Amino acid sequence: MERIEKRIEACKRCELWQTRTNPVVGAGSLSARILFVGEAPGYYEDLKGEPFVGKAGKVLDELLASIALQRTDVYIANVLKCRPPGNRNPTADEIRACTPYLDAQLEIIQPEIIATLGNFSLSYIFDKFGLPKDKISRIHGTVFTVSTIAGIKIKIRKVIPLYHPAVATYNPNMKETLIDDFKVLAGSLRYDLHL
Ligand code: URA
Ligand code: SF4
Repeated sequence: MERIEKRIEACKRCELWQTRTNPVVGAGSLSARILFVGEAPGYYEDLKGEPFVGKAGKVLDELLASIALQRTDVYIANVLKCRPPGNRNPTADEIRACTPYLDAQLEIIQPEIIATLGNFSLSYIFDKFGLPKDKISRIHGTVFTVSTIAGIKIKIRKVIPLYHPAVATYNPNMKETLIDDFKVLAGSLRYDLHL
């Protein structure tokens, strides 16, 4: 992970390096069972170099606390490592340029559960694992199972699409939906068999 961090710090694979203050590699436990994938750094993340430190981050902390987890129990990464100016949407070229870093993080951490936060994350992860994409309003909080072959081992992984926590900052009703979906997330950890 340190090697990836160094590569991201020096990265000029897309034009976002020109406007970033700091890249945001990700944060959390390298042995996390859950990996959250957000979209891209925002204003405060760019200043601090840490993921989810603004308003959406406060919501994410509350959601984690609702299932008795802390940030240090999970890993939090983003599709893009540098902030798009004005928090505009990531472009397809930027996503293509940056996601080898996310792929490498997935390889290192080997999470049992990948929880996507928001549409760009959902789209990238669902395409990567060949899952059928649908509207987030239909599939949020649903557990999808994928098998991947690593060497000679078959790994079973779960993918759970979630709304982006920022939605709860402008629509308070969404907090309840997110809390329910985090219960699904916690349940799917609890009942996992370790064979
Ligand atoms: N929103 C994201 O998607 N990622 C962050 O790191 C912060 C806000
Ligand atoms: Fe490199 Fe990703 Fe930053 Fe673009 S967003 S400069 S690809 S680290």
